[in-house]
This record gives sequence, C-alpha cells and structure tokens, in this order.
Amino acid sequence: MDSILVTGNGPLNGDIPIAGAKNACLTLMPATLLSDEPLTLTNAPRLSDIKTMTALLQSLGAEVSSLQGGQVLAMSSHDLNNLHADYDIVRKMRASILVLGPMLARAGQAVVSLPGGCAIGARPVDLHLKALEAMGADLELRDGYVHAKAPAGGLRGAVIDFPFASVGATENALMAATLAKGTTVIRNAAREPEIVDLAECLRAMGAQIEGEGSSEITIQGVDRLGGATHRVVTDRIELGTYMLAPAICGGEVTCLGGKLSLVEAFVEKLDAAGLSVEETEKGLKVARRGDRVKAVDVVTEPFPGFPTDLQAQMMALLCTAEGVSNLEEKIFENRFMHAPELTRMGAKIEVHGGTARVTGVDRLKGAPVMATDLRASVSLILAGLAAEGETVVSRVYHLDRGYEHVVRKLSAVGAKIERIKGE
Ligand code: UD1
Repeated sequence: MDSILVTGNGPLNGDIPIAGAKNACLTLMPATLLSDEPLTLTNAPRLSDIKTMTALLQSLGAEVSSLQGGQVLAMSSHDLNNLHADYDIVRKMRASILVLGPMLARAGQAVVSLPGGCAIGARPVDLHLKALEAMGADLELRDGYVHAKAPAGGLRGAVIDFPFASVGATENALMAATLAKGTTVIRNAAREPEIVDLAECLRAMGAQIEGEGSSEITIQGVDRLGGATHRVVTDRIELGTYMLAPAICGGEVTCLGGKLSLVEAFVEKLDAAGLSVEETEKGLKVARRGDRVKAVDVVTEPFPGFPTDLQAQMMALLCTAEGVSNLEEKIFENRFMHAPELTRMGAKIEVHGGTARVTGVDRLKGAPVMATDLRASVSLILAGLAAEGETVVSRVYHLDRGYEHVVRKLSAVGAKIERIKGE
C-alpha cells in the first residue's frame, strides 16, 4: 500500500486548482439512469470513488466513457439491462444507494444492496427508503438487499417530510420525483450546493423543479427526461482543505475557481482565527495575518453551516492555534478518529462524545500516522506540512477516494511532499 511522506517546511505560495465536486459528481452520475438519452458531465474529478460509480453504472447496463483524462464523463443508459446493484460494488461506497431512486423511477423496479456500515458512524439509509415508500414504492429488505417495486402506474408524487436534512435522501427523492406522476414536495430538504447542482442538471434534462437550495423543493413529475451536458460544481470541500494549507504553513495561496458562497460558514471561522480570505477573479486568496492562528469554536451543521467534511482539516489547523478550541460534531457520531493520530504528532486533544477540546501547541512533530477515513487522511497531511520533521501517512487509498493529484497540487505551492509506492 502506498503512503505519503510530508516534510514540514515554511510558507506556501502560489495557485492550487480546485476540481469538480466528488459529492456532486456521485449524484449526477446516477441521474443518467433516468433517461435513455446521453448525459455528459464536464469538470469531473479524477478519483477512485468516481471509478467505483462508473463500475456500478456499467454493471447496470449503462455506457460510461471517461474522456479527456477523466474530466469528461459521457454516459448513456439507453439499454438499462440489469436492475440489480450488487453488494460487491455497493459495499465499496455508500453513495451507491443513489442508483435506487432513479432505477425505480425509470424501470419500475430495482434491487440494491444495502451499503452497510461506515467508519464514521452507523449511517443508515432509512430516510431514503421512507421517501420512496411515500411515493408508493413497495420495499422489502431481504438478504442484505432492498427489493423495490413501483406501483403499476409508476411512482406517485407525494409530500415527503424528512425529520432532519439528509443530503443523500434528498438526492434520491429528488431524482425519483422527476419521473413520478404528479407533484412531489420535499420538506426539510438538504440545501447543499451539490443538491442545487443536481437540480440544475435534472432541469437541463427536462425536469420541473423549484426551490432547490431552500428547505422545500417542489417537483412536478414529467413523462420522460432527455439528455444534457452539465458542468460539475466546484468541490467546496477540496477548496476548504487547500485554503487551510497557507493557514497552517503561512504564505499566500489562491484556490483557483473558489467562490465565497460555497464556503461562507467556514470562512467566518478562518477570519476569526486570524486569516484573510479574499475573492478575486481567479478564486479565493488566503493569507495568514499573524504568525500564529487563534483558537476558535466550531460546530458542524448541515449547509449553510460549517461542513462536517472540513472538521478534521480544521482540527489540524487548531492543533497549533493560540488557546483552546472546542469542536462539536453534530452530523456523524464517530468522526474524531483523526484525533488520536494527531495526538501522535504532539497535539493536545481530549475527546468527550461528540466534542473535542483542542489545546494549541507551538509546533507539531512529524510521526508515522494512519489515515482512518477520507477527510482524516488529508487532515494528517495538513498537520504534517507544518510539523517539525517527517510525517508518513499510510493507508492512502482513503485519500485517493476524494483528492486528485494531492502531491502535485501541494508541491506546486512549495510543499515537500511525495508519494511512496508500497509493495
Ligand atoms: C453526504 C456526503 C458526505 C457528507 C454528508 C454530510 C456524499 C456522497 N456524501 O453523505 O461526504 O459528510 O453528506 O454533509 O454526498 N441519516 C439517517 N438516515 C438516512 C440518511 C442519513 O439517519 O437515511 C443520518 C446520517 O447517519 C447522518 C445524517 O443523517 O448522521 C446526515 O447524513 P446525510 O446528509 O444523509 O449524509 P450522506 O448523504 O450519507
């Protein structure tokens, strides 16, 4: 298995290009299942999760071609010949459940493996299933699979009232509702930019949708959807991650393509910590105002709140801040697995349930550490950039799921980082 060697060094300066959003692409890809005409995505990120979704769609009979080095995905589902999403692919990635709504809406039936547990918490899919049931689907859980059937005339529009906002459940319901008979209202819908992006793509395919980006989305079902070409929205999590590189190491970095509207709650915290962030024509320019950042308290929340997917990276920053920071994780119950690894590097962190108390130290020290999940892996790299000496991050396959060309992007701004090939 490969690992990443990071040697702590001084300020970082230059530009880092930000890719299209992994999480948007993972929900836009299954949208191809809704139509027999081609759907093309541009600005796709080159990641192993995208390859997993490609394999899943191909297993269902969709054609997926990766063009221009993976930045363009040309898809067509004219021949949807298999309605069984197998455990062997689904277990690799939770987002696989997003094929359920589209398949059921277009073909009237689907069998999809349950994704199973995940390192960052139990993460059930009950809300996805309740939404489809509300639209008339008959669901049966058997042998680890969801066996789903639409009523004779197809899914029916419904009022779906989520008890709390779920990104994936909103996406599944939204896609299914585009082809349902009548009107669907999704209440307590998630408001993430990736949902807005999905709605825009579906609208380009002919769907009738209103209210995306607010907590109530209304969809008027149509008989069929056509093809479209859609550009994937910028990855706000990759953006936030690289904004933290100059925050941790000093210097000035512009994240190309970045927009404030994607990361407002995050930028508020950076500002309070003593960083300057400026939106320019090129993107977001980040610089550290003083020598050391100040402690800040962070609570993760659904969008537009502080994203849980930036909590681990923010913790890496706060490990060397002046003062004590409290981080409260409200989305996932087990998302502090990076804390013991950061502690190995000299950080002072006490975790009590969903809260971590971080007492800033002057400097972290390099150490061998292990990536436990996707965002944790990049938080260890960020910590290593500012630590004294060498940090070796193992289990890099987590990183490859969500960050393309990390070594190239960080080296270009002056970081000492290399990938070490494993056996
Ligand atoms: C998506 C993102 C993930 C991000 C998360 C929260 C993708 C591919 N992944 O995950 O990177 O961390 O949003 O911003 O877009 N829940 C239930 N029942 C359900 C569904 C969810 O209880 O049926 C719970 C989850 O366990 C979690 C909370 O709801 O505690 C929010 O999860 P959700 O918004 O659904 O996250 P995902 O869509 O899985």
